[in-house]
Amino acid sequence: MTAVSNSKTDAPPTHPRTNNKRERAGSVTERRTDYGSFTVEPLTPHLGAEVNELDLSAPMEGQQIDAVKQAFADWGVLVFRDQELDREAHKRFGRYFGSLHSHPMNYSRNGDSEVLIVRTTADSAYTAGDGWHTDVTCDAIPPLASALYIKETPECGGGDTLYADMYLAYEMLSEPMKQMLEPLVAVHDGALPYVGAYKSTPPEGGYPRNEHPVITVHPETGRKVLNVNSGFTSHIRGLQPFESRALLDALFKLIATTPRLYCRVEWQPNTLTLWDNRCTQHHAVWDYYPHTRSGERVSVVGDEPPRGVNG
Ligand code: SIN
Repeated sequence: MTAVSNSKTDAPPTHPRTNNKRERAGSVTERRTDYGSFTVEPLTPHLGAEVNELDLSAPMEGQQIDAVKQAFADWGVLVFRDQELDREAHKRFGRYFGSLHSHPMNYSRNGDSEVLIVRTTADSAYTAGDGWHTDVTCDAIPPLASALYIKETPECGGGDTLYADMYLAYEMLSEPMKQMLEPLVAVHDGALPYVGAYKSTPPEGGYPRNEHPVITVHPETGRKVLNVNSGFTSHIRGLQPFESRALLDALFKLIATTPRLYCRVEWQPNTLTLWDNRCTQHHAVWDYYPHTRSGERVSVVGDEPPRGVNG
């Protein structure tokens, strides 16, 4: 019988989940957890952290904002517990990162176009984000971040959000696959989720539809990112339809079937989670029917569209 070993000296396995053995993709041995005026506790070594000792209801000063931005770049997903926020405080926090985004589906809704109501009840036909996606990548400049403030959690549990690390997804690809994907551009179509899944009536002229590189470079960390998502990406430009479908399905399957990519946020009332939309995807799990989960989201837009590896 052949002995089975998991020793580090074994020949390299070929499965992407365990590629690169010694320098295993996404393994980070040291990351900051102390940011001066606050500390963080990691959710996983590669993605997500809970932030301690920060009250977002009070305006922050320059140095503290810089520290939050640093933690955001380091961890991709930041969770702030026990926050008592009114809408203005929520929006003020978002504005530290850029201008607030108006969601394309908000065009027909009354109220504040910068705030997306995220509320699911027993009467809801769908819950926003119940599938792997990156927010609003149909826009020419998609949000760089979203900040979701959940006020009401389902009374019998559930309603967590999963986040997936798109740096790590990129690093899991083989070198030939990385080289093939790097020059490619994909189409991101708002009609896919907003009409196809949510059955909403499009605005005059339709929902936005834009092209973005399949592999992008994060403007702050310089790391490469796998930038297609099953929510919005309809096809890869220039490929035969069957080639595009097969490639996208393979990439979407990597994301949907690789828990190692994930961190999981378990919401409590008055939790705010901020995520970096340029290097993560997320999936809001609707496992709490017929109970209610409710909150509000603001998103932030940057100045530049996603950049590919050749600029
Ligand atoms: C979303 O922004 O896609 C919704 C996320 C959530 O409700 O957890």
